[in-house]
Formats: sequence, C-alpha cells, structure tokens
Amino acid sequence: MSKEFEDIEKLWKQVKMLMILIGIMAIVAVLLVVRTSFKSKPTNNYTPVDSSTILEVNSKSLDPSTDLWTAPKIEDAKNLTEAQKSQLLYGKELISNTSKYLGPLGSVAKLTNGMNCQNCHLEAGTKPYGNNYGAVFSTYPKYRARSGAVEDIYKRVADCFERSLNGVSPEKGSKEMEAIVAYINFTGSNVEKGKKAKGSGIYELKFLDRPADPTKGKIAYQAKCQSCHQANGEGQINPDKVSYQYPPLWGKNAYNSGAGLYRISRFAGYIKANMPFGVTYKEPQLTDEEAWDIAAYVNSMPHPSKDISKDWPKIEEKTFDHPFGPFADAFSEEQHKFGPFGPIKKAK
Ligand code: HEC
Ligand code: HEC
Repeated sequence: MSKEFEDIEKLWKQVKMLMILIGIMAIVAVLLVVRTSFKSKPTNNYTPVDSSTILEVNSKSLDPSTDLWTAPKIEDAKNLTEAQKSQLLYGKELISNTSKYLGPLGSVAKLTNGMNCQNCHLEAGTKPYGNNYGAVFSTYPKYRARSGAVEDIYKRVADCFERSLNGVSPEKGSKEMEAIVAYINFTGSNVEKGKKAKGSGIYELKFLDRPADPTKGKIAYQAKCQSCHQANGEGQINPDKVSYQYPPLWGKNAYNSGAGLYRISRFAGYIKANMPFGVTYKEPQLTDEEAWDIAAYVNSMPHPSKDISKDWPKIEEKTFDHPFGPFADAFSEEQHKFGPFGPIKKAK
C-alpha cells in the first residue's frame, strides 16, 4: 500500500469516529428534550387556559434566589383568548377591590362587609407567606375537617365570603364567582397536582410554652398596629365610603367568629410575616411572642358571630386552636383559644 493511501484511510477512520460521536450526542440531546417536556407537561385539566401557556409558566415557577413559589403573570401568559384574559383580569380585580363590586355600596351586588379578599390574601394572593393562593389549585378538591366533606374551590371561596367577609357568596355560574375561581386556578396552575408550593399560604409560627396574653397584646397593638387599624380596631374607611384604606380587625365590619383569622395560629402567622403593613417574612418586625399576644388581644375583642354549630361534625378532628367546645380531649376552651398548644397537639 502506498503511504498516501494509508494516510487517506487513517483520515477516513477519524471522520467515521467523529460522525459516530456526533450521532450519539444528537440522540442524547433528543432524549433530554423529550424527558423535560414530559416532566413539565401540564398536570391539570384547567380548560380556560391553553396548555402551552402552562408549559411556559412552569419554567418560571420558582424564585431562584429564595426557592419559593412565584405566581404566573397574566401578562406573560401566551395563547389566551381575549375572553380568557379578560376573565382572569376581572377575577384579579375582584380579589383586589372586592368591596367596589360586592361590598355594602357595591356596583354589582351588595353581599359583603366592605373588606377585600386582598386585605388578607396580599398582592392578589401571590405574596410569599402572604396567605397566597399557591396551594389551592394543586390541593383542591380535598377533605376538610371543618365541614367534614370534600370541598372544591367554589366551596372554599364561598366560605371566605360567608366568614371572612361576613356576607353572602355569589353563586357558582355567576360572572363574578367564575372569574374569581378562574383567577385562583390560574394563579396556582404552575404547581404540580398534590404538591404544596413552598412559601404558600400562611407562615407556621412556633408555639409559645405559655398561653398567649391579650393584656400584653394590647400594649403591642397600641405601639405597632393602632396607627392604621385605629384604637377601636375598626380601621379607616376611604372618604368615598366604598372601601377601606385600613381594614377593620374587630367590630361589626370585621371577619366573623367562623373565619380562619379567628383562630389565633392563623392570625399570628399572618401578621408575623406581613404586618405592620409592608414587612415580609424575611424581615419581620414582630417577635413571635408579640404576634401571638396581639392575636390573642384582637380575637378577644368583639366580632360578628356566625352560627358554626354544623362545623367540625367529627369533634375529634377539631383543630388544636378552634376556640369553641365541645372537644374530644380534656383541655379547656380557654386553652384551645390561647394555648399553650404544645400539650394539646401532643395529646393528639
Ligand atoms: C379576613 C381575612 C380574609 C379575607 C378578607 C378573605 N380570606 Fe380567604 N382565607 C383567610 C384565611 C385565614 C384562610 C385560611 C388559610 C390557612 O388556614 O392556611 C383563607 C383561605 C382561603 C382559601 C383557601 C386557601 C388554601 O390554601 O387552602 C381560598 C381559596 C380563599 N381564602 C379565598 C378567598 C376569597 C376569594 C376571598 C374574597 C372573596 C377571601 N378569601 C377573603 C382569610 C381571609
Ligand atoms: C401602615 C399601616 C398599617 C399598620 C401599622 C398595620 N397594618 Fe395591618 N393592614 C394594613 C393594610 C393597608 C392592610 C390591607 C392590605 C391590603 O389590602 O393590601 C392590612 C391588613 C391587615 C389584616 C388583614 C385584614 C383584616 O383587617 O383582618 C390584619 C389581620 C392586620 N392588618 C393586622 C395588623 C396588626 C396586628 C398590626 C400590628 C402588628 C398591623 N396590622 C399593622 C395596614 C397596616
């Protein structure tokens, strides 16, 4: 064989090796793409939003700096029809300015106490540990011990209308109810079914090993809350009387005795991460003790009462801080209201 021929053969061998290598790399790349697209496939059947939208928002479901859930933005969602988009925007508007539409002077109907959903579900239900809607779409329908039944999102929303807003819920099928539920679904649509997003809902505060103390709470309230929510706890209504600048914490226009915030663990966790208004869970201004004591104080003041005789049909399923007896355990109503809760939880 001539030297020239040997060289060509060597070169040909190298080219073949290279081609095989490129081939393998291409196969690996295709496999990777297929795998990730399967992974991020929408895990829900929320029809009003096109599935490719959900794929898009899935990739941005976490804040890389904190690892916490972030809500998709309506503006970023691709492939929504105009009707879908305007329904979501109306839902968001109803969450943010509920009273304008459904409050005592509401333009659509007069159903509620003048509060907005957003007063408690901050930033339209998207703020980390701001009682957000991050875990709603992914975990409902679910069994809830309070009603002793499996609840869907409509039922859960109606609950807040009847308790937190001490009013009447718009009906399923109404433009308002459908828009609110569509918005809540969309907001949680980037969380996998069955999972609870990190940073969702309310911050879980450590228990004190003493009862929460309303007397200490009153002092802290005067120092840190009263400037906005007022000495009488009734907040401050806007000059137009349609909605509040500072929402009420007690009194006839506040949440009622069947509401989530009437449980002091919900109240304390909510204010620890969010009040005085403007703080975040990262830089709280209240100590744990202050949060529990203020919760005890505010929930010792008068609230509208709600007939909750049908709640908690199985008393052994009552949550540790449900403040009304009878109880399946031997702890007093007082201890169920103010704690210490450690022993109650332990006995369970
Ligand atoms: C006075 C405060 C308050 C107001 C106002 C309020 N909510 Fe709530 N909401 C709560 C609390 C507290 C919870 C229970 C959160 C928990 O236990 O983690 C809750 C829970 C919910 C949940 C279930 C959340 C979950 O993760 O399971 C939905 C949905 C909801 N509210 C919707 C609404 C809507 C819609 C409105 C307005 C019509 C509204 N809420 C107004 C306080 C409020
Ligand atoms: C600078 C004014 C300001 C201060 C101070 C303040 N809040 Fe608020 N608070 C607000 C505003 C405004 C909202 C409603 C937020 C919204 O709608 O986005 C609110 C909402 C709330 C809510 C939920 C709605 C309701 O009325 O039930 C609670 C509970 C609450 N505050 C408790 C407290 C407590 C307790 C303190 C003191 C530790 C406090 N706030 C201090 C302005 C304030």
